[in-house]
Amino acid sequence: MVPSDLAMWPCAALPNAELGSRTTLRIGGSTEWLLEPADPEEFVAAWNAARERGFLPRVLGHGANVLVDDGLHAGVVIATERINRVFRPSPEATGEAGSFDPEPSGAVALDRESDPRLVAWAGAPLPTLVRTANRLGWTGLEGLAGVPGHLGGGVAMNAGGRWGAMWDVVERVRLLLPDGTTVEREREQCSPGYREGGLAGAICLGAVLALTVEHPTIVTERAKQFLREKNAVQPVTERSSGCVFKNPDPELSDGRSAGRLIDDAGGKGLRRGDAVVSEKHANFFVNRGSARAQDVWSLIVEIQRLVLEATGVELETEVQIWRR
Ligand code: EPU
Repeated sequence: MVPSDLAMWPCAALPNAELGSRTTLRIGGSTEWLLEPADPEEFVAAWNAARERGFLPRVLGHGANVLVDDGLHAGVVIATERINRVFRPSPEATGEAGSFDPEPSGAVALDRESDPRLVAWAGAPLPTLVRTANRLGWTGLEGLAGVPGHLGGGVAMNAGGRWGAMWDVVERVRLLLPDGTTVEREREQCSPGYREGGLAGAICLGAVLALTVEHPTIVTERAKQFLREKNAVQPVTERSSGCVFKNPDPELSDGRSAGRLIDDAGGKGLRRGDAVVSEKHANFFVNRGSARAQDVWSLIVEIQRLVLEATGVELETEVQIWRR
């Protein structure tokens, strides 16, 4: 690597960057290039620079829902880590959809009760968003308490669960289309569904979130309660990528969730290397040491086989798999 290599990118760039430590499973090899834009404009420039050089970049948020293959991944990964602003729409945007630019310094502060909306850029951590809403006493995001992703990934896959999902509060998104142009879309123009943001291949650069004014204590207590319920049934303190499989069509599975099917088929505790099917929740695979992607992959195939043989149901992965 010579310095001029770095100069070919319009933002911070790392050659041969390690990816495993950037995922919640702590598994995965490295990427030829890791680009780290600092704002949405740099992200677009990074995307277009990579495309011009013949790469189709992958986008990495908090790495909370990916299984990254071992070894060296050729090409470019763009990380949203540094694009982490959260702010209120400027007063001028009140009543409209809301600007994606932070308000200029010196702008009039809004009181808590007016315009309960937040603008978040793609790399804003979901826990930060939940905390911000709790503090302001705005309800709508409590269901995401304990979800360890970034806004961009959360919108792209409609992160959430029984207590609420990301798109419950999305009013508008700013998207990067595969051709390198950006657009803003109202929620009505998108078609989010179960674990699916409905962005048709576009990348989320940011979103305007519309919440509802309530009392800060009530909102905070509700978020805490959801977190307690979640901690009771999920291995939240272990290294995992959340649920590995999507819940199947209830008609085909007799209403049983993926976790329940795996549990009933005797999958809990099954192990490949350091990758283990959690004894607490069977749809979570945990890394109990230095598991390799190959271990997790073997476990996925094994569990799919077990459940298929026991019930005839084909489990489909929810976790995104980055093959080399
Ligand atoms: N169950 C078992 N054994 C298990 C796990 C669950 O019998 O090992 C049973 C439970 O007792 C319950 C049923 O299966 O009767 C459903 O389990 P749970 O309530 O934990 O929900 P889930 O369907 O397994 C979904 C989401 C989670 C989300 C939770 C809570 C999917 C694939 N999973 O899990 O989302 O946190 O509901 O809302 O939609 C994720 O997407 O990464 C994720 C963790």
